[in-house]
Amino acid sequence: MATSAASLSKGTWWKEGVAYQIYPASFKDSNGDGLGDIAGILSKVDYLKDLGVDIVWVSPMFESPQIDMGYDISNYESVHAPYGTVEDMQALIDACHARGMKILLDLVINHTSSEHAWFKESRSSRDNPKRNWYIWKPPRYAEDGSRLPPTNWRSYFSGSTWEWDEHTQEYYLHLFAKEMPDLNWENEETRQAIYNSAMRFWLDKGVDGFRVDCVNMYSKRLGFLDAPILDAAVFEQPAWCEYANGPRMHEFLREMNSAVLNQYDAVTVGELPHTPDPKHVLRYVGAGDKQLSMVFQFDIVDIGQGTVGKYRFEDWKLPFFKATVAKWQQFIEGTDGWTTAFCENHDQGRSVSRFASDLPEHRENSAKLLSLMLATLTGTLYIYQGQEIGMINVPTDWTIEKDYQDIESVNFYHAAVKAAREAMAGDQQAIQKETDYIRRSIQILGRDNARTPMQWDASNKSAGFTDRPEGGWMRTHDLYPEINVAKQQSEPDSVLSFWKNMLRLRKSHKDLFIYGNFRLYDPDNESTFVFAKTTTPAGEAATGAGQAAVVVLNFTDKVQVVHLPPADEVGDIQLQVGNYLDATAAEKTEQSSALGRQRTLRPWEGRLYMSS
Ligand code: GLC
Ligand code: CA
Repeated sequence: MATSAASLSKGTWWKEGVAYQIYPASFKDSNGDGLGDIAGILSKVDYLKDLGVDIVWVSPMFESPQIDMGYDISNYESVHAPYGTVEDMQALIDACHARGMKILLDLVINHTSSEHAWFKESRSSRDNPKRNWYIWKPPRYAEDGSRLPPTNWRSYFSGSTWEWDEHTQEYYLHLFAKEMPDLNWENEETRQAIYNSAMRFWLDKGVDGFRVDCVNMYSKRLGFLDAPILDAAVFEQPAWCEYANGPRMHEFLREMNSAVLNQYDAVTVGELPHTPDPKHVLRYVGAGDKQLSMVFQFDIVDIGQGTVGKYRFEDWKLPFFKATVAKWQQFIEGTDGWTTAFCENHDQGRSVSRFASDLPEHRENSAKLLSLMLATLTGTLYIYQGQEIGMINVPTDWTIEKDYQDIESVNFYHAAVKAAREAMAGDQQAIQKETDYIRRSIQILGRDNARTPMQWDASNKSAGFTDRPEGGWMRTHDLYPEINVAKQQSEPDSVLSFWKNMLRLRKSHKDLFIYGNFRLYDPDNESTFVFAKTTTPAGEAATGAGQAAVVVLNFTDKVQVVHLPPADEVGDIQLQVGNYLDATAAEKTEQSSALGRQRTLRPWEGRLYMSS
């Protein structure tokens, strides 16, 4: 029998715990300045405990000019003043621990803010001792003598990855905003400074580990070659082939473990974009060669994104979604690696809107259907704030000009409109069409969808997020009177109650849900998603009590027929949970109707069966 990941290290908190991501700016404002803060998080720790959360991940709350919502850090050892102080963070760490919860911070060490003291020194002169802590290069020159950046790489936030520094007459590299220069990991001294300042400082305060930002971008290919031209309309090209998963990446992570993480027994979950090959991902998450505890592989959240530009929405079909889930469920089977289950975070549109339906008549069932799917998947489960109440994307009439805030979407929009005006000069209609398409793509995929204030109650126009009369730093979702925590807490059939129930169920059947093997049925069906979780490896029957679970999900707004997998594979299974209130009654009728294992699912209906 093949070894399952399960049998190797059961009982590990970071595998079995349910993790919850907090985006500090938008979680809870305690002092009426319109911005979330650490005291606000503290006031909700009991809410998280009650939900069933075991691990709290706090997005960056460090000192920062906030060009990219705190992912631009100017001092790792200090807290963004409007959020609170290092002492407040200590109180939060202690409050989590007092309730038996763990806490992870964000580790953003691919780059710093340009306001970080290290960069200020680095840019002060070419012979400054910290010059080499960042990546500086001389210009190239075109045939006509004009100055060109060292490569044609496109930054994540549009435009070049290179910024010209007048003072020292060189370019520096920034994969993100120009205010976020990339650190030079080739330099040993820089790495040691990162370990001390960004890691040991917080590990000594008791944090249990890190979500590691851009974890595969530290090692750049040192040839600094131009990226292939995919988008002929502009100079800058997608270039992750040159800077992601570079030659020393695995070496750096091994060093980080032996130098720091192992000393604290700290856990890591790495952000791992641009890595589609399971064999490669396994190199990062295999327990034998310790690099990362687990990663967020990007395939699931990349669904619908454009290949040449992120906010050029491409339609997708359910078989692709199912294959994606199956791939990242199964890649650890028979290995010593570990996986994660997630479909939201602060960089993504809301899952109900992206993967299901946010229409008023479907959104609650959609949220519960996705909860049913996620809570039964293998790996560490991550929930993003607001997902537990089924928060949805911002309304279509919000505008880039007034309502959107995110540097990535706003820059993308302006760059795309500018390119359209240049390429389609005079053709107003074509320009308008292109503009509408980009707006629509941002409405589906934009990061701001996840960043609207948490909807706590209907006590004021800010959904109880802030008391500030003029509201929060970002507009509150118009539907807060219908979608909020207080309302759902009082309703036994709410999305929130459903999630609580699912999390309890998940934890009471760990072998099946957290460690089980995943089997996909009917992969080509474009309407329904049917999978089984079993405690036995693929190919072996799972017919004993509690050995199999079957999940059937209707991903359409029409009635669909599904077939439960045969009894010789999953045994005698009984309905356990459904997102329709009358699921039990419906199941009884169907069971007695001589249709065998055929079931009829209503729009966005999901059911979970378990072997008895
Ligand atoms: C990661 C973060 C994202 C940020 C970027 C730069 O992708 O999740 O929010 O913009 O890194 O740090
Ligand atoms: Ca505040």
